[in-house]
Amino acid sequence: MLSKKETPAITDTSKNSGEDVIVVEHIYKRFGTNIVLEDFNLVVKREENVVVLGKSGAGKSVLIKCIISLLKPDKGRILVFGENVPELNHDELDRIRAKIGFLFQGNALYDSMTVRENLEFPLRRHWIDFSQKDVDALVMDALENVGLTHTVDMMPEELSGGMLKRVALARTMILKPDVILYDEPTTGLDPVTAREIDNLIIKLQKKYQTSSIIISHDMNCVKNTADRVVLLLDGKCYIEGAYEELERSNDEKIKQFFE
Ligand SMILES: Nc1ncnc2c1ncn2[C@@H]1O[C@H](COP(=O)(O)OP(=O)(O)OP(=O)(O)O)[C@@H](O)[C@H]1O
Ligand SMILES: [Mg+2]
Repeated sequence: MLSKKETPAITDTSKNSGEDVIVVEHIYKRFGTNIVLEDFNLVVKREENVVVLGKSGAGKSVLIKCIISLLKPDKGRILVFGENVPELNHDELDRIRAKIGFLFQGNALYDSMTVRENLEFPLRRHWIDFSQKDVDALVMDALENVGLTHTVDMMPEELSGGMLKRVALARTMILKPDVILYDEPTTGLDPVTAREIDNLIIKLQKKYQTSSIIISHDMNCVKNTADRVVLLLDGKCYIEGAYEELERSNDEKIKQFFE
């Protein structure tokens, strides 16, 4: 249901059904005088894709960086599986990060490494638990998911933009994370390749019951992937609802995203 956030709902985590995978509660983040997030709230449930819409510079990347603790909010709580991320120590953070995949706004692949080496990278932290045979199987399984097993020994420079995005996606989900944070997954791709990425996002959601936050300006991607859309405006959740509900809105601040 479409709900305007005049007064942000306070989530009582003691009553969580266990279905709330990510709970962002009243977070604030500023850089000097630049107030980016100001009492922002968000809940993502199991196997739910939530798209965060917002103008360039609205704070979308800052939000997901706070969730994986690349940035620390000034105030507020960010619960991932009930654990307050900003308060975790190094080891606890490592453990929770293993459950979270992050697809960076750029692909962040290592140019000097083969596709195989790029995919092995997130496994290194857990290397002791894996034999070489396990590692090979995980790499091939991840590439199979994105239809790119034949690129395993290629270098990133030999791949197209769409293939690079799919390799980055394979690396993001190699540890089968419960949560995936996608920062602009289809930006810069042609429409056909972009739709392939949308389909992969949905395939991974269904196959692994992942909960995702997807940041996107690509309204086709939003329409295809969103179970729910959240509009980040002036540091707050301005409105949330189904794509079709927001699309029908007469509010100028919402309409501009659908023109
Ligand atoms: N590490 C940082 N230090 C200082 N300011 C920052 C930092 N990271 C982000 N900002 C500022 O926070 C604001 C929000 O940035 P953010 O990258 O989240 O925007 P965005 O919504 O992701 O935009 P885009 O759609 O262009 O990617 C911007 O004003 C930016 O300059
Ligand atoms: Mg961004």
